[in-house]
Formats: sequence, structure tokens, C-alpha cells
Amino acid sequence: MNKVKLRCVRAKFEHIKIVYLIRNNPEIRKNLINSDDIVYFDHVKFYRKMLEEKNPKIFLIYHGLIPIGFFDIKNKTETGDLEVGFKIIPTYQGKGIGKIMMNRAIQIRDRKYPDKNLVLTVFLDNDNALNTYRKAGFKIFKREREFGKRTLAHMKLQC
Ligand SMILES: CC(C)(COP(=O)(O)OP(=O)(O)OC[C@H]1O[C@@H](n2cnc3c(N)ncnc32)[C@H](O)[C@@H]1OP(=O)(O)O)[C@@H](O)C(=O)NCCC(=O)NCCS
Repeated sequence: MNKVKLRCVRAKFEHIKIVYLIRNNPEIRKNLINSDDIVYFDHVKFYRKMLEEKNPKIFLIYHGLIPIGFFDIKNKTETGDLEVGFKIIPTYQGKGIGKIMMNRAIQIRDRKYPDKNLVLTVFLDNDNALNTYRKAGFKIFKREREFGKRTLAHMKLQC
């Protein structure tokens, strides 16, 4: 990757279409629990809800002027944990950006919510994601085999 700087920007309403395009990328969706295309109307509901929560929870990553991915952090109401999710467009994957986003997410947890567990879910066959998470210090604490032939792993950051 060339030396153009990466920027992390807190998502606002004006970023709604950018986040929609990234969320709906077919290569990204195939690694998510619900791999169907997202209808724009449903995206608007999701996005509004994320922005209306007490703290803005979507962070976009730009390479120069190009939006290349985002991560979101939300409260899991059942457990009180913080759940994080990462999405990078295919041409920018495998270049170390996931690691940078992960460090930023951990920093946010440490600064704003030091008492909360940081958790995420990932399919065990998603090597790139699994490696990114393991290298950042996440460990699997539960496995589920209810998504066709795929096993979903629940991971927690070990402090
Ligand atoms: C998962 C995702 C966020 C990871 O980000 P990324 O930028 O591709 O990952 P990085 O380049 O930062 O790599 C992180 C680590 O994993 C390793 N890695 C990357 N691809 C790998 C692969 N296919 N197999 C093994 N290790 C791999 C890298 O070597 C790196 O380790 P290192 O720091 O020791 O070199 C990104 O690929 C993505 O958005 N994928 C599509 C959506 C998705 O699957 N989201 C997660 C759903 S839970």
C-alpha cells in the first residue's frame, strides 16, 4: 500500500450511503451471519438506530479520500458486553488495515468503557478475520454449529 495516510472518522448521517455500500459488498456479506443483500430501507433503520444511541458507534476508515471500511461498536443488552464488527472492502484486505482498526477499537474500549468485555463473533472458516482477532488477543469462549455447515465462534478479548 502506498504512503497515503489512513483516517478514522466518526460516522454521521451524511455517511449513510457509504456505509450501505460497504455493508452490501457481496464479498463482505458472505462472511456475515445474514449474507442476504440489505434493502436500503432496512439500512436506514439500522443506521438511524446506531446514530441515535447515546454514543456514536460507527467509525469509517479512509485511505486518502477513499472510504475503505468501517467498524462498529455496540452494547449487547443481554450481557452488557461491547460487541465489535469489522468490514474492509476486498481490495484493501490483507494489508494490515484490520489490525489498525482493531487497535483503534481496543483503544476506544480502554478509554471509554474499561470495565466492559470486548466481544465479537466470527465464522471459524474466515481465516483472515480469525487470525486478525487471535493476534489482537481474542480467544474463543463458545462455538455454535447452527449456521448450515459453518461454525460460528464467539470470541472475547483477554485483558
Ligand atoms: C476480517 C478483516 C477485518 C481483517 O482485516 P485485514 O485488513 O484483511 O487483516 P490484516 O491485513 O490486518 O491482517 C491481520 C493479521 O491476520 C493475518 N492474515 C491475514 N490474512 C490471512 C489469511 N488469509 N490467513 C492467515 N492469516 C492471515 C495477517 O498476516 C495479519 O497478521 P500479522 O499482523 O501477524 O501479519 C477484513 O479482511 C474484512 O473486512 N473481511 C471481510 C469482512 C469480514 O469477514 N468481517 C469479519 C466478520 S466477523
